[in-house]
Amino acid sequence: MLRTFLSITLCCLLFSTVHAYNPDDERYIDNLMSKMSLDEKIGQLNLTMGGDVVSGTAEAAKIESLILKGQIGGFFNVKGVDAVARFQHLAVEKGPHGIPLLVGADVVHGYATVFPIPLALSCSWDSAAVAQMARISAIEATADGVNWNYSPMVDICRDPRWGRVAESSGEDTYLGSVLAKAYVEGYQGNDMKSDSSMMACVKHFALYGAAEGGRDYNGVDMSRERMYNYYLPPFHATVEAGVGSLMTSFNLINGQHATACDWLINGILRRDWKFNGFVVTDYGSVDELSRMGIAHDNEAAAMALRAGTDMDMVTGRYVADLNDALKKGLLTEKMIDDACRRVLKAKQRLGLFDNPYKYCNTDRVNHDLYTPEHRAVARDIAAETFVLLKNDNNLLPLKKKGRIALIGPLADAGNNMAGCWSGYCYPESHKSVLTAFREAVGNEAEIIYSQGSNIYYNETMQADCDWGRRISRVDDSSAHSEALLAASKADVVVVAMGESCEMTGESSSRADITIPDTQRDLLKKLVATGKPIVLLLFTGRPLILDWESENIPSILNVWFGGSEASDAIADVVFGDKMPCGKLTTTFPRSVGQIPLYYNHLPTSHPDHDSSRFNPYCSNYIDVSNEPLYPFGFGLSYTTFSYSAPTLSSDVLTADGVLKISVEVTNTGMFDGTEIVQLYINDPVAHIARPVKELKAFKKVDIPAGKTAVVDFTVTSDMLKYYDAELNYGCEPGEFSIMIGPNSEELQKLDFRLR
Ligand code: BGC
Repeated sequence: MLRTFLSITLCCLLFSTVHAYNPDDERYIDNLMSKMSLDEKIGQLNLTMGGDVVSGTAEAAKIESLILKGQIGGFFNVKGVDAVARFQHLAVEKGPHGIPLLVGADVVHGYATVFPIPLALSCSWDSAAVAQMARISAIEATADGVNWNYSPMVDICRDPRWGRVAESSGEDTYLGSVLAKAYVEGYQGNDMKSDSSMMACVKHFALYGAAEGGRDYNGVDMSRERMYNYYLPPFHATVEAGVGSLMTSFNLINGQHATACDWLINGILRRDWKFNGFVVTDYGSVDELSRMGIAHDNEAAAMALRAGTDMDMVTGRYVADLNDALKKGLLTEKMIDDACRRVLKAKQRLGLFDNPYKYCNTDRVNHDLYTPEHRAVARDIAAETFVLLKNDNNLLPLKKKGRIALIGPLADAGNNMAGCWSGYCYPESHKSVLTAFREAVGNEAEIIYSQGSNIYYNETMQADCDWGRRISRVDDSSAHSEALLAASKADVVVVAMGESCEMTGESSSRADITIPDTQRDLLKKLVATGKPIVLLLFTGRPLILDWESENIPSILNVWFGGSEASDAIADVVFGDKMPCGKLTTTFPRSVGQIPLYYNHLPTSHPDHDSSRFNPYCSNYIDVSNEPLYPFGFGLSYTTFSYSAPTLSSDVLTADGVLKISVEVTNTGMFDGTEIVQLYINDPVAHIARPVKELKAFKKVDIPAGKTAVVDFTVTSDMLKYYDAELNYGCEPGEFSIMIGPNSEELQKLDFRLR
């Protein structure tokens, strides 16, 4: 310990005497860059991946050699502070100019303590909870050597077939922007130089969530109006919140690759939004430029750099090709200098020049990870994210008595709870629902367990979505029978089914988004027994639940709730906590309705009767236009009633304000929490505007029998949009304002903007 301390102190002293300027000063970077060769500057633009970097492995040797040659600005996916410290020491003590390294990781919804997946977190509509989860993630990740985090993902997603919807905040631009800011503030803290802050990297710029057909990595063709109004604002919100870095996306945008898109990166991001951080590619994107017909092999690196992409993730092409490209006149030396300066400034913002070892405190790792305090917060937050979709006859909450059958392939699968992107946690120590239920009921009730089925009948399909082989394979036919026997002995049946955790996340697109075959068959057999059934639905995306919504009395969507999910599920199922989450993505009735999102534009020949097919109307012969569960929807164990809202005036001036007020009464038996939502519609404008758009919301605790007065302030800023010429503003005229518990059950008032 003393030795580490002395060596750290000595290195810091050495460091500050080598460079004459204060490490915080711009001149410090000028001075450093004046000593760097062109190749060393290009080296700062190279990001390599770690892997198994125990001393002596080929992976470790590769990183060591890059460090010694000055050909690396940072690395990612290296697990553990010891390895990080080793490389950091090498860079500072033996690398050219002693420049410290960025250490990246995908800490997407927690590190050792895992929180619900981002889609679930968004269903809490709680920016303070998101900021708290991000802060805890930062405390834990920085204790293990990470200083740069590839989160938040702020892609707007209107297609649940896309597996990465799980990593998003859903389909709404306003909510997505509010939460995007909270992530950044939580990761970066008040002071990015604090040793428990890490630099956020917002991703994926841009439009990745609109991949055609919901198939990952697919291209996007989109109007500028749609980009500016719906897809770009969450990125802009993170820039305004001071995000330090940004990652480009894999997709084509109108035929150009996002990584080499000058109007997007140099234009919108840097010129218009004044982003002063640095830009990194996504994994291997520079190689993709040539594979996707955008650039010749040896021109791809120059093309990406010219567009404003500073750092190359894993291809090594910047190091291999930029020097030659400069000689060929494909770029200027200034472009390399600018990119290098931005990467060095990121290191400066993190305080790495003051103390390169600030994230190498091997002591912290023993105290700051997976602490009881962090886990307690994760448990509370998880309960906030569950969405009660249905609860006939108040079947939930269950009483802790009698015999409860717990059935399903996800009932005893603690290591399936964390969800995608949870590579730094301890899945073997995550409790299963079965254990949590048994602990919750103690001797008061009996829990009868049966796995009941596989995820899929087909073994290969199951293996493809259960890489960790977390769910044991069983014989479906005998498992179904065993489950029916368990159900026959029980007073109530709780079924834990849905997706295994690798069915969402990167590359996990699905064309059929129902509950997989063998599980749904078992569910049908269980329903036929006539027992009351609660479905605990595990999923990373909206599923098609047409049959379930007709036939299952209670459905609690629990997503992937993180390391403490099972305790949180028990808390809610047995009524120790109230469900209060609301959907942030529309649940369609049929995959054929996709894309289906609440803030759509008006159509020609609008449908006037959703109960049947109407010829020459914009509808389907075989399914209604209505979602199964709309955006903003979620029940509670209690009920709320809304009074008629009132507006302070029916005229708003450009710089004035209106107040809209509504009384919300808790009319049920339990104290509860309601998320009150406000939407606006501009019925006639320069370009057609959506039928409604979320513009504000409030989450309020209301004790049983009590009434809360919920007020919102409306300003003309809330009415602004980008028109076809990309002018941003609002037009005088009529507007509607709607208030209610979700995007469908709304009360409307009109006002005029003067
Ligand atoms: C993903 C990114 C991620 C990166 C590094 C890519 O495949 O698209 O979201 O940050 O890998 O792990």
